[in-house]
Order: sequence, then C-alpha cells, then structure tokens
Amino acid sequence: MSKVVLITGGSSGIGRAVCTYLTDKGYTVYGTSRNPEKLPSEKFHYTLERLDVTDPGQVQDLVGRIKEKEGRIDVLINNAGVGITGPVEETPREEIEKAFDTNFYGPLNLINAVLPVMREQKSGLIINITSIAGYMGLPYRGIYSATKGALSLVSESLQMEVHEFNIDICNIAPGDFNTDIANRRYHAPMPASSPYSQNYEQVLDIVNKQVAEAGEPLKIAKTVEKIIRSKNRKIHYKVGAFMEKFSVVLKKILPDKVFKKLLLNHYKL
Ligand SMILES: NC(=O)c1ccc[n+]([C@@H]2O[C@H](COP(=O)([O-])OP(=O)(O)OC[C@H]3O[C@@H](n4cnc5c(N)ncnc54)[C@H](OP(=O)(O)O)[C@@H]3O)[C@@H](O)[C@H]2O)c1
Repeated sequence: MSKVVLITGGSSGIGRAVCTYLTDKGYTVYGTSRNPEKLPSEKFHYTLERLDVTDPGQVQDLVGRIKEKEGRIDVLINNAGVGITGPVEETPREEIEKAFDTNFYGPLNLINAVLPVMREQKSGLIINITSIAGYMGLPYRGIYSATKGALSLVSESLQMEVHEFNIDICNIAPGDFNTDIANRRYHAPMPASSPYSQNYEQVLDIVNKQVAEAGEPLKIAKTVEKIIRSKNRKIHYKVGAFMEKFSVVLKKILPDKVFKKLLLNHYKL
C-alpha cells in the first residue's frame, strides 16, 4: 500500500521537487498551492489542492477530504514558507506578522489538523522544513530566522508530547537552495536616508548571490524520502553545503564573540 503524503507548497522550489520525487517513487502525493488553477497542469503529474496554510478552515477541510478519500495520512510535510529581509528596526509589524502566519502558525494549523488522524491510525510522521537560518540570528534576516527557529523549537516539544502515539516529528533545515524564494520574499523598503541602507543592500547582494549559486532542491527530496523510510529517525537534519552545516557546529562550540566576528566577516559588515 503506498503511503499517503500531504505536502504544503507543492507548486515551486523545494516542495515541487519533493512532490515530483515522491510521486515517481510511488507515494500517493497531495501537494498544495494557493492558486492551483493558475499553474500549467501538464507540468505537474501529482495532485495540487488549493490551500492557504494561514487559513485554519481551509486546512481542516483539506485534511478531512484526504482522510475521507484515502482513509489515512501517513506523512505531513510542512514546506510552504516565505522569505523576509530587512533591518529588524525597519521591518513593518504587519509584515512580521505575515511571515509568522505562513512560516510558524501555518505549520501549526496543519499539525493540529493531522494529529487526530495520525493518533487514530496509531502512526504518522511530520516533517517541518525549517532552515539553517533558524539556528542563528542572521543580519537583516532576523525575522526569517525567528520564524524558523520558533518552528524548530516547537517541534522539539511536540516530539515528546506525541511520542506515545507512535508519531514522529523531524525538522529538515536546508542551507541555500536554488528556488524562487528570493524573487518572492518580502524586502523591507530602504530609503537612502536609512542608517542601514548601505549595509542592508550589501548583505542582500551576498544573500541573493548565495541562493542563485546554490544547489538544486532534489537533494532535499532525497533526504525526505530517506527519512520516510528510516526506522531510526533523528529530530534534526541539516541539508546544504559543508560550511552551512558546519556553521551550526561552530555556533555551538565557539565563544559568542568569535562566532559573531565570523558572521560579520562573511557579510562584510
Ligand atoms: N530555498 C532556500 O534556500 C531555502 C533555505 C532554507 C529554507 N527554505 C524553506 O523551504 C521552504 C520552501 O521554500 P522554496 O525555496 O521552495 O520557496 P518557493 O520556491 O518560493 O516556494 C514556496 C512555496 O510555498 C507556498 N506558499 C507560500 N505561502 C503560502 C501560503 N500562505 N499558503 C500555502 N502555500 C504557500 C508557495 O505556493 P503558492 O505560491 O503556489 O501558493 C510555494 O509552493 C520554505 O519554508 C522556505 O522557508 C528554503
């Protein structure tokens, strides 16, 4: 019997790579998009359901329909997410809330909807796509780091709460991957009069270059499949270039001041 997988944000980038890979491997895949009707159907050989993760009603409805049709949901992958950059001081409050709505409250909406289904079937796996940026506060990406760090921490708590129901929680923290994220992300407006404008622009150039030169998201799709098949899962997986993964180790072992210096050097600040 093929496993039933629900993946949020299946229209682009990492989500699309995961949907395609798992479909090719024989899984029953439900991807999602806020506007599936606007996508060329010939380019997607898996189901794309309409879903805005920030709408708890839509989430409940979709989970209910999949449960009715398939009888179960084996894996939830919380992938849908948005980028946001800007100096913390100059990022508008409503944009901060929007980022948290999609990257933090959205996954919680999905988790709350699938847990009763997984409890009933006495098994389940939830994979959250977080970020290496969630392990450290990065300059001009503080809000993004906070949304991903928050999701990563909640997952640690949740794994202990659902352990007795035979439900597993994993975080995959990607480094940079070449997707549409940079084109779609929110950028705080930067008037020339801002005390941050020069540094922000410089950091943004570095960040955009990193995404443009990064690897393909197939690597994440392969990790997802490996985790689904694994009988001995970890809570945290990091996928990316060596230095991206190693930065998490450095943050743990280096004195804070030295780690800060490394980041300042990296971003030429
Ligand atoms: N690319 C990277 O370098 C990188 C690094 C670390 C972490 N990540 C994380 O990986 C995940 C996927 O990012 P990506 O790089 O593949 O970006 P992407 O190409 O921009 O794809 C984002 C996906 O999220 C969906 N989405 C956005 N807002 C949504 C909402 N409110 N409700 C439902 N779906 C929504 C989009 O679907 P529609 O627009 O069709 O609705 C799209 O499928 C995100 O969580 C991101 O933070 C990416």
